[in-house]
Amino acid sequence: MDKHFRLETDHDNIAWLTFDKAGTGTNVLSLDVFAEFEQHLAALQQQQPRGLIICSAKSNGFIAGADIESFTRISTEQEAMALLQTGQQAFNRLEALPFPSVAMIHGFCLGGGLELALACRYRVTRDDPGTRLGLPEVRLGIHPGWGGSARLVPLIGAPKAMDLILSGRTVDGRTGKRMGFVDMVVPERHLAAAARKMILETPPVHRASTLERLTNHPLVRPLLARILRKQVARRASPLHYPAPFAMIDIWRKHATDKSAMLAAEVQSLARLVSGLTAKNLVRVFFLQEQLKSLGKDKQYQPKYVHVIGAGTMGGDIAAWCALRGFRVTLQDQAPARIAPALARAHTLFKKKLKQPVKVREAMDRLLPDHRGNGVARADIIIEAIFEDVEVKRSLYMDIEPRMKADAILATNTSSIPLEELTPALARPERLVGLHFFNPVAKMLLVEIVHGQATAPEVSTHAMTFTRQIDRLPLPVTSTPGFLVNRILMPYLMEAVILEAEGVPAILIDQAATKFGMPMGPVELADTVGLDICLHVARVLASHFQAQIPASLEQRVSAGNLGRKTGRGYYQWKKGKPVKPSPSGSNWNMEEITNRLVLRLLNEAVGCLRERVVSGPDLLDAGMIFATGFAPFRGGPVNHIHAIGKQALLKQLAELQKLRGDRFAPDPGWQDFS
Ligand code: NAI
Repeated sequence: MDKHFRLETDHDNIAWLTFDKAGTGTNVLSLDVFAEFEQHLAALQQQQPRGLIICSAKSNGFIAGADIESFTRISTEQEAMALLQTGQQAFNRLEALPFPSVAMIHGFCLGGGLELALACRYRVTRDDPGTRLGLPEVRLGIHPGWGGSARLVPLIGAPKAMDLILSGRTVDGRTGKRMGFVDMVVPERHLAAAARKMILETPPVHRASTLERLTNHPLVRPLLARILRKQVARRASPLHYPAPFAMIDIWRKHATDKSAMLAAEVQSLARLVSGLTAKNLVRVFFLQEQLKSLGKDKQYQPKYVHVIGAGTMGGDIAAWCALRGFRVTLQDQAPARIAPALARAHTLFKKKLKQPVKVREAMDRLLPDHRGNGVARADIIIEAIFEDVEVKRSLYMDIEPRMKADAILATNTSSIPLEELTPALARPERLVGLHFFNPVAKMLLVEIVHGQATAPEVSTHAMTFTRQIDRLPLPVTSTPGFLVNRILMPYLMEAVILEAEGVPAILIDQAATKFGMPMGPVELADTVGLDICLHVARVLASHFQAQIPASLEQRVSAGNLGRKTGRGYYQWKKGKPVKPSPSGSNWNMEEITNRLVLRLLNEAVGCLRERVVSGPDLLDAGMIFATGFAPFRGGPVNHIHAIGKQALLKQLAELQKLRGDRFAPDPGWQDFS
């Protein structure tokens, strides 16, 4: 009975139940945890303490949620229902205890963890940004199922509760208190005292205001449900992401009948758990964990980063590293070139750090350095200057003699194979690619490009550093376009070809977003910049004998580069594309989608054949985290498996006949399994 919990009673007869899940550093909920939890609750019912405080022995937090591993083992609705009912039963028992209970929360309190806390009479949390509360289930294609919605909705009213559930966002203790589901927020040193105080003084429990209660009224719910549906539909289609829509329905039907709502949570969730969207989103979760695990060399502790090139990429990379706590020097040809990057950094720090002291500290960590004094003391030097082999080579010859012996030289090149840069270096084994995506502050993935000469230790350190700045490392070989741009480019080029054939840009984009892309390819090309697209397309075309659509070249030579010039394929006003209603409705939308997607999948197969990444999981992870490739489909390779190799080969053959050899199946399909 004492495997995962420790039960102690103090001199005031307060019971302390400490959760310390065996064999792991994070508390998660699973069937055996519930079984032991229930035993303790039964014992406490006999013991009749003055109150119960539930806390965690783990340094990273209270409870991170359900054990997602065990999710993957659920194969039937019945199994899912059993797990859900077990949890609901335990939390109902907790809620019904005849003495007060407190959840004493620090760090993660997510999903099932918050559902447990909501079944307590009170919740007290530590006051720091690292304490995160939320119900992020929708991000895994499901919704709360252990009473989270049934308890939160009456406690704080539908708008706030549904916002938390439908967005899956997390909040700190202060925000939780403002919203009404946290009772007290205190500094760490007062946390235990605050929990005791709740038991000893039993203040009145929080009650929703009249207005908040009104939002759950049967007459109000249909209208509010319609508004919520509309809001969610703007971000996700019910076809691809059914969970938030199911949640809205459950609330609309049962908000004022708790036991009906609990039963509906189980019914609906059991269906969702065994569905494809949840399976694929859980897969995405594990892919993310896999990428995170690539950068875990605890011995490697770099401190100084020197960035050369303060343009679009270098400026933002430097700011991001300073935000994450590194001392950073930023070099460019002249101080005036560095100033705009510092101004952008200030805006980023204000947005992310909010408190003026922290913003100042971050600015102090980021120093302009046009003479390049930082080179000599940097642990990592990131080069982000013009995309030109000669310019990069001569810079390397200048800086290498001044670098520390164990420093890493990382290039942000998006297209130059490292082998073209190494002749300039005496120690080519120190060179690695750290390919960030634009905008740096938003894009999670960084490709770690290892060239033929790159030392394995340098790649490992580059991956560890990538994790230290809270990005996801993806190891790729030094081949043209690496992984992401290489797979993305044929898809973008097909969009350009379709547009030149007369298909309205907006329809091309709609075909892609309906498939599940976060943004259509035409809008994406305009956003990235048509000059940058053309540059990458040329590099790839020279290696893979592809053709560049003339319309792209024409637009670039006319200076219509997309968002940054106000005109590309779209007109841009205030940073947004103007999208006219499409003319003519005779376009075959299915063929448009197929043409876009098949070129992407075909290139993905080519990358697997050439082993640009070490396997299909990493390919899927790369495309999801760098381009937002339809997460509910689990990545390009997963999608190929879902549709079937033979069916896709048939479509490719038809398109090859109809549209030309760019649809010729990659030789890699032969071995694809
Ligand atoms: P950019 O043109 O905005 O900035 C380059 C900066 O480097 C300029 O400020 C320039 O003054 C400076 N510079 C040039 N030579 C220098 C030298 N010898 N010493 C010091 N500073 C020097 O270029 P951007 O877009 O930031 O690209 C930089 C690198 O990042 C390129 O290799 C590019 O391929 C790569 N990249 C660009 C992406 C993008 O979306 N713009 C995405 C991913 C990678």
